[in-house]
Amino acid sequence: MSPVINIQHSSDSPDNRIPDVLVEDSQTLVIFGGTGDLTRRKLLPALFAMFFEHRLPDQLRIVAFGRREYTDESFREEMCGEIESFQRVKGSAADVKAFAEKIDYFKGELDDEESFVRLHKQLDNAEVYPENRVFYLSVAPNFFDKVTTHLKQSGLIYHPSHEHWSRVVIEKPFGRDLDSAMELNRHVLNLLDESQVYRIDHYLGKETVQNILSFRFANTIFEPVFNSSYVDHIQVTASETVGMESGRGAYFDTAGALRDMMQNHLSQLLCLVTMEPPSGFSSDAIRNEKVKVLQSIRIPKLDDVRDNVVRAQYVSGTLRDKKVTAYVDEDRVPAGSHTETFVAAKFFIDNWRWSGVPMYLRTGKRMGRKQTSITVQFKKPPMELFRTVQCANDVCDLTEAQPNMLTFRIQPDEGISLHFATKRPSMHMVVEDSELDFNYSENYKGTLPEAYERLLMDVMRGDATLFMRSDEVEAAWKIMDPILQAWQERNARIPIHFYSPGSWGPLAADELFENEVGSWQNS
Ligand code: BG6
Repeated sequence: MSPVINIQHSSDSPDNRIPDVLVEDSQTLVIFGGTGDLTRRKLLPALFAMFFEHRLPDQLRIVAFGRREYTDESFREEMCGEIESFQRVKGSAADVKAFAEKIDYFKGELDDEESFVRLHKQLDNAEVYPENRVFYLSVAPNFFDKVTTHLKQSGLIYHPSHEHWSRVVIEKPFGRDLDSAMELNRHVLNLLDESQVYRIDHYLGKETVQNILSFRFANTIFEPVFNSSYVDHIQVTASETVGMESGRGAYFDTAGALRDMMQNHLSQLLCLVTMEPPSGFSSDAIRNEKVKVLQSIRIPKLDDVRDNVVRAQYVSGTLRDKKVTAYVDEDRVPAGSHTETFVAAKFFIDNWRWSGVPMYLRTGKRMGRKQTSITVQFKKPPMELFRTVQCANDVCDLTEAQPNMLTFRIQPDEGISLHFATKRPSMHMVVEDSELDFNYSENYKGTLPEAYERLLMDVMRGDATLFMRSDEVEAAWKIMDPILQAWQERNARIPIHFYSPGSWGPLAADELFENEVGSWQNS
């Protein structure tokens, strides 16, 4: 076990020093999919947290658009229960009720133009509904084009030069391959200006993800060694213990882990940790640098997919003492499905900074632990001057020298750690691995804001930095498309591997490191 040195934050009470970020513009927020899971578990609790912390304008109305029968009252009552169970901020029942007064229910059909005409009439009452408008599409992707078309045709979207603004938020998945993503971008950008579109990748709203940029570009000591001269490889893991709960199999089986997690969340994490310094902190400056990374990732050929990408599916087994079924036996998953629940891949970024440095990405369901982390593993010193020991309590073994490792723990146990060698006190000149550890929970009061709080706040304030631009989405699909195509090609005979619940995936994923230093970091 390595000794751990904890790092403390240098400010006693950081909360007192930072001016609050507030939404100033009065506005109406319409949520399509207003009775759905995302609205109940994430969007309304996030809006409530912002209300509770006095970040929202007084003039705010929320309209939940759904198919089911509710009155405003019955909807508010049901949502109060949901907000109380999923809230982060511990507001009282009275606080939740006061917030719920801002919500109206609107019964309508997503594919019915008349519903949008009625919605327009209702929102035209400017005394009740502030004229700036956010439309949040928390709906299945096959409705994206219908809803955007109806919004435009019914006149609910203002021209970008209008004195009031309208913004449209689109949840993932944004396309299911390059062609469909390009088609969707064409459709959306025919109706809306890019500045009116906010494509959500909720990982970008996580506090620890945003910290990657400050860590890299607000410090001088790490950036000079973030390149191929010093870095051996980078690995990104997003493992989950969940399977196909609440009927999720119906969606997941049409997507798979590559589309669901790697094309978006993992590629975005990779961009943030490898991008060049932006010229400023504007949304376009940052997104320009991210897109350059995506455009420099080597597009895998068939042989690369065979050698460098591993897909797998979980079988039945035991996870944390509970029996769990195989993926193919999950609710709403077709028997005999070949959809991958795990994917691991090795990519290369062909640019000046990262040439030749392998980038390992992996994600999977029903794995040993929920963990999202990025590890930058540095090269070993050019010569091994010291002997290295590894000790567990009093028992020590001589081992190979350990390389320096910098780990961003995105979730849970949010923090950053740096592994380095120190002399072990003794008459021998031996070194051991030690750890400098910065931990959010020990350094900051309270809980970290939820990703959706940050993202909703940014949409409401008109800051698109943490949202995906159309060229980013397409560049990410360009890398993933050949993998999907190779998997579909019968003659390519690319196997699907299997893994037990609670494990770290199939052995084939470990073999991606064959002939190279390092292995997956599973702790
Ligand atoms: C979603 C995926 O985008 O992210 C889910 O569709 C996944 O399959 C989820 O479970 C993971 O998000 P988080 O924030 O829990 O890591």
